[in-house]
Amino acid sequence: MAPQPWEGKVHIGSTSRDGGPFARLAEDVRRGLTRIPKELPPKYFYDTRGSELFEQICELPEYYLTRTERAVLARIAGEVVASVRPTTLVEFGSGSGRKTRVLLDAMARRELLDCYVPIDLNEDVLRQVAHTLSESYPGLRTHAVIGDFEQPIEILPTGGPRLVAFLGSTIGNLTHDGAIGFLRNVARLLAPEDRFLLGTDLVKDVRVLERAYNDAAGVTAAFNRNILSVINKHLDGHFEPNRFEHLAFYNKEDSRIEMHLVARQSHQVSIDAIDFTVEFARGESIRTEISCKYTRAMVEGMLAEAGLRLVRWDTDRDRLFALSLSTLLH
Ligand code: SAH
Ligand code: TRP
Repeated sequence: MAPQPWEGKVHIGSTSRDGGPFARLAEDVRRGLTRIPKELPPKYFYDTRGSELFEQICELPEYYLTRTERAVLARIAGEVVASVRPTTLVEFGSGSGRKTRVLLDAMARRELLDCYVPIDLNEDVLRQVAHTLSESYPGLRTHAVIGDFEQPIEILPTGGPRLVAFLGSTIGNLTHDGAIGFLRNVARLLAPEDRFLLGTDLVKDVRVLERAYNDAAGVTAAFNRNILSVINKHLDGHFEPNRFEHLAFYNKEDSRIEMHLVARQSHQVSIDAIDFTVEFARGESIRTEISCKYTRAMVEGMLAEAGLRLVRWDTDRDRLFALSLSTLLH
């Protein structure tokens, strides 16, 4: 990890030695658009505009995930903190830290709170969350890490029991192998007294699921198309986002929402920085995102495969969303 100067109580570090979050964009875009069917890795949604759009998604009436998870978290945070007694909160894919405060408050109330370690690809969002939170919690040391949570990440030793959180059902955006790889990295990071708090969206009525990814205001569609603007900006691409239609549907067999961008007409797009031209047939799609939906058995199975054991499971009354707490298996 490259050491960076402390900005007051905030330290910003990075795990990448090779030019930041978009360093592998060229290679990932070329590979993804050469594949049949075409696909793009969802981590590239989150530039500044993408992160703003995601914030708006979280407020949408159709998008029950954020407020449901937050309510469950608010209900259990006190008990979880009382049992784990964490002094450090490590958070993967922290985003704007909307739900983070619920945990930090519970830690502060018990006078345990010492250190916060958010890890995210988006440097702007990370800096902002680090500074805002360190102002809200006097004495908090914040060590923000700009990095890809799919790569092995070493967190600097900070002592005390740690609570490691991965919220928002972001784990559902990884493939099964990606999710297991991520969980194994978490298991490698955990000391016996640490606990891992995971947010997962649950299998439910297809109409409820599909509505959450097809909002009436079209924010999700704009978010989906934004990945093309990211390619245009960073790789001199010539995508016209409006030539693609937003498509999100539930794939029951694979227990996941899939998001696609479907070409309205057949056309070609050149991407100058990688000297690449891609052809689209009319109706051909790029899969931009998966969002897996789980049962408790599926979550327990994934945790076990990665060497983790469930110690606590909480959901809202309608069983829309779950938070699980786990520990090292051995
Ligand atoms: N935890 C927040 C935000 C979820 S959005 C919530 O629950 O509301 C997903 C976040 O993960 C974004 O901030 C995005 O920048 C980040 N992210 C996505 N893929 C990532 C990756 N591979 N490595 C690190 N951060 C990633
Ligand atoms: N983790 C979120 C989810 O799976 C990410 C997300 C929400 C998302 N809405 C989206 C990703 C729309 C792509 C498009 O629900």
